[in-house]
Parts: sequence; structure tokens; C-alpha cells
Amino acid sequence: MTIFNTRKEVSDFIKDSLIKSKTIGYVPTMGALHQGHASLIQQSVSENNITFVSVFVNPTQFDNTTDLDKYPRTLENDIELIKEIDSNIIVFAPTAKELYKGNIISKNYSFDGLEHEMEGKHRAGHFDGVGTVLDLFFTLIKPTNAYFGEKDFQQLQIVKKLVSKYKLGVHIIGCEIFREDSGLAMSSRNERLSTNARKEAVFINETLLAAKKQFDTKSALKVEEWVTKQFAKNKQFNLEYVSIANIDTLKPVKRKSKKQQYRIFIAAFIDNIRLIDNIALN
Ligand code: PAJ
Repeated sequence: MTIFNTRKEVSDFIKDSLIKSKTIGYVPTMGALHQGHASLIQQSVSENNITFVSVFVNPTQFDNTTDLDKYPRTLENDIELIKEIDSNIIVFAPTAKELYKGNIISKNYSFDGLEHEMEGKHRAGHFDGVGTVLDLFFTLIKPTNAYFGEKDFQQLQIVKKLVSKYKLGVHIIGCEIFREDSGLAMSSRNERLSTNARKEAVFINETLLAAKKQFDTKSALKVEEWVTKQFAKNKQFNLEYVSIANIDTLKPVKRKSKKQQYRIFIAAFIDNIRLIDNIALN
């Protein structure tokens, strides 16, 4: 198992002429790995000659230092999980100072409005931080393909925009959401839920599935209102937003068109822990 901690180790490896002719798959993560991450890593291993996984809690994408401090850091377990998938995977785990060359700040990006919807409204500067760190990683690792989960669908669309707008030359592959048997979307934050809250959290996916059924016959607004009501009745949850949006612009749907694809997105708090989920509607 190869573990790199410095930019130089990565760039020396990439420069090697034997590597130049190979395809590189890349899975960026913030660690605290679970089966959702593992499914992305497995896909990269099966589609590329070499797979890189970065484990890096990116300070510039957190709008709140408590959240950054509380983020679980479990590098040894992460390495074990990666090793079980394939011992040839290369792990890149730099410090922030090393990756950012001492200058730990975000660049400002325009993602043509994608950054102003949903998560963008509630997490100031978040997508500038994500764009900045991925720009650094892509430039250094020079992957052929990079893998992102639909769990963070807005992030996936923003990364596609980043790559096309700023010509970063990476093929971005979106991967389905990996769920627990209960339907709860896997997330590092699930570990922080109490046993009871974890059982209750299934409510998010159940509500999304019920909303999907209604979307065939009702307007987007009516379905959103219905979802809001369900959350108001459930005292365990605090709904932050529900949005039925066009998957390309991420803007809320005004009038449905058969030709356009839509998804429904939810962010909600349970036990002060913020969970997000989304599903395709058509
Ligand atoms: P992180 O939250 O660690 O997620 C890393 C990748 O795993 C993301 O692409 C995310 O969408 C995907 N993922 C998480 N849970 C998943 C699930 N249940 N099913 C499928 N995919 C899942 O997202 C980030 O880190 C960071 O913003 C990052 C891109 C690494 C930049 O710092």
C-alpha cells in the first residue's frame, strides 16, 4: 500500500514514463470512509489502471470552525478499508499546509449560478472551498477519471461545471447513492446519530419516495408543500429546505416539462445533525 503525504511524492510518481501511458482514476474524500465511499473506489479500480484516493478534511469548505473541528478523522481505519478493496490503491493524505503551499484560502469561482441554490444558500463559501481544493488535486494528480457520489448531487454538477469552464481535462463520473438496508443514505454523519435517531432518519428517504409517487400527478409546488407538512408533523426533525429542481440548473421547478429531468432534494436536522438526501423524480 502506497501512502503519499507530500505534493512532491505525487508529482514524481505521475512524471514516471511508465505511469504516463496508464489511466488514473481518482476518488476525493474527507475520510471517515464508509460503504458509500467504498462503492466509488471500487468503480474507479474496475475502470482504471491506477486509483488514487485522497483523504483530506478540507478547511476552506467549512463555514464554521466547530463543524471543521468535529469532523471525524480516522486515517488508520480508512487505510484498512481501502486496503481491503485493493492493496495497489495509492492514498494521498497531505496536511493543509502542504496541499495549499501554506496559503490556506479559497479562490472565488463562478459556477453559472449552480452555487447559489440549495446548499449554497445555507453554507456560505462552501463551493468556493470545494472548487479550490479539487482544482489543486486535479492539477497535481492529473486523473483521467474522477468519481463523485450523487449523494452530493449539487457538488457533482458544480464539479462538472468547474472542469468544463476551467478546462481541467478530467472526466467526471457520477455514482449512485449507496444506502443502508433501511434506505438511509450512507454518510459519515450517521455515526453521530443516537440509535433512536438513526432509526428515525429513514423518514427522509421514505418521504422522498412518497413525494416521487405524487410528482406524476401533482405540481412541484404542491409536492414541496406536502413534504414540508410531513416534516412539520415529525417533531424529531427540523427541515432546512426541500426543493424539486431541474437537474441541469438546480433551480426550483416552476412548470414541469416531459423533456426535462428533475430531482427532489432535502436537508434536515435530527439531534442537531444535518443530513441531506435526494432522488430522481423522472
Ligand atoms: P466526502 O463527504 O468524504 O465524500 C466523498 C465522496 O463520496 C463524494 O463524492 C460524495 O458524494 C461521496 N459519497 C458520500 N456518501 C455517499 C453515498 N452514500 N453514496 C455514494 N457516494 C457517496 O464530498 C466530499 O467529501 C468533499 O466535498 C470533497 C469532494 C472530498 C472535497 O473536499
